[in-house]
Amino acid sequence: MTDTDEAGRPAPPRSPILPRVTAGRQRDDLVVRPDRVAASRGGTDAPEWLPYRLVDRPEPPPVPNGWYALASADDVPAGEPVTVIALERELVLFRDADGAVHVVDAFCPHMGAHLGGGDVVDGTLACPYHGWRFDGDGRCVEIPYSESRIPSRACVRGWEVRERNGMVLCWYHAGGADPTYEVPEIPEVADPTFTDAVVHRGELVASLQDMAENNVDYTHFYFVHGRNALDESTSRFTTDGPLSTVVETFESEGLEFTRYTYGPGIALLRVPGLMTMLAATTAIDRRHVRLLWHFHLPPETASLAEDIVVGVVGEHGLSADAPIWRDKIYRDKPLLVKGDGPILEFRRWYSQFYEGN
Ligand code: FES
Ligand SMILES: [Fe+2]
Repeated sequence: MTDTDEAGRPAPPRSPILPRVTAGRQRDDLVVRPDRVAASRGGTDAPEWLPYRLVDRPEPPPVPNGWYALASADDVPAGEPVTVIALERELVLFRDADGAVHVVDAFCPHMGAHLGGGDVVDGTLACPYHGWRFDGDGRCVEIPYSESRIPSRACVRGWEVRERNGMVLCWYHAGGADPTYEVPEIPEVADPTFTDAVVHRGELVASLQDMAENNVDYTHFYFVHGRNALDESTSRFTTDGPLSTVVETFESEGLEFTRYTYGPGIALLRVPGLMTMLAATTAIDRRHVRLLWHFHLPPETASLAEDIVVGVVGEHGLSADAPIWRDKIYRDKPLLVKGDGPILEFRRWYSQFYEGN
């Protein structure tokens, strides 16, 4: 059944992923209405998007360059294309005859059909509209009904892909440059003493940089996550090219958290004896992110998987941050004071991922 708006007109299709773009749909939507402003200030019923334009809400930063997970490896079966909306575009994933995963832009160069609705035929991606077939690099290799030469422009963009650590990742660079670093191999993924991935997925209204910055924002751990001290001496932040590391030591609990961040899309949280979490976070667009977090647990905690995931993503973890990220703006020049932690150092490191934007 088609949804209708208040005036009985058919509503535009709603994607569970994309923001519901309203400009031009209904003039009312462009007017600030106090009731809707109030609703957007927080609370569980707040809308996930703002259906009006507010001059004090600047755009968040652009999508940074880096490797981004598009799917778990198991999400991409042989013989079937999979569509993923990420990096401000629609992408189609498929496996060739050797099982290698490929990622191409979604729209057929012929007449624009969505290739995600097609089939995988002999390891090529066949368009659902007129059957043109594309290889893993996105080149058209067959037009089944025509004897004319395949036009040189008959191609879709093919993306640089890695299938690693049980995930499928692609390289995004706003300026079209080649990868500047590699997706690391995580030893725990192949270690038989660790569990297979316990997967947590989600989508949030958040800017990728705000989420990443949160890890060096020591003060918020006290106010948002209920940590009982405001002591930043337990944390160390260091950088090395595209890698940054935060080590947090909790002597009384005998725990050490090390969070390695490989560019904007891949993080690894390692807590010996407790868990290794491969946390891939992918920009859907500037304001929306998708989480694909794989938990690998050592024998000591393998039976506690559910509790550990809830501890990380539940009310004292991710869920406490989420409304703040949803409602905040990105401050280009934040008003930092002593005690705020290494936010500027973090930003200097992160700025390398905007080159070419
Ligand atoms: S639109 Fe794809 S083959 Fe025609
Ligand atoms: Fe947080």
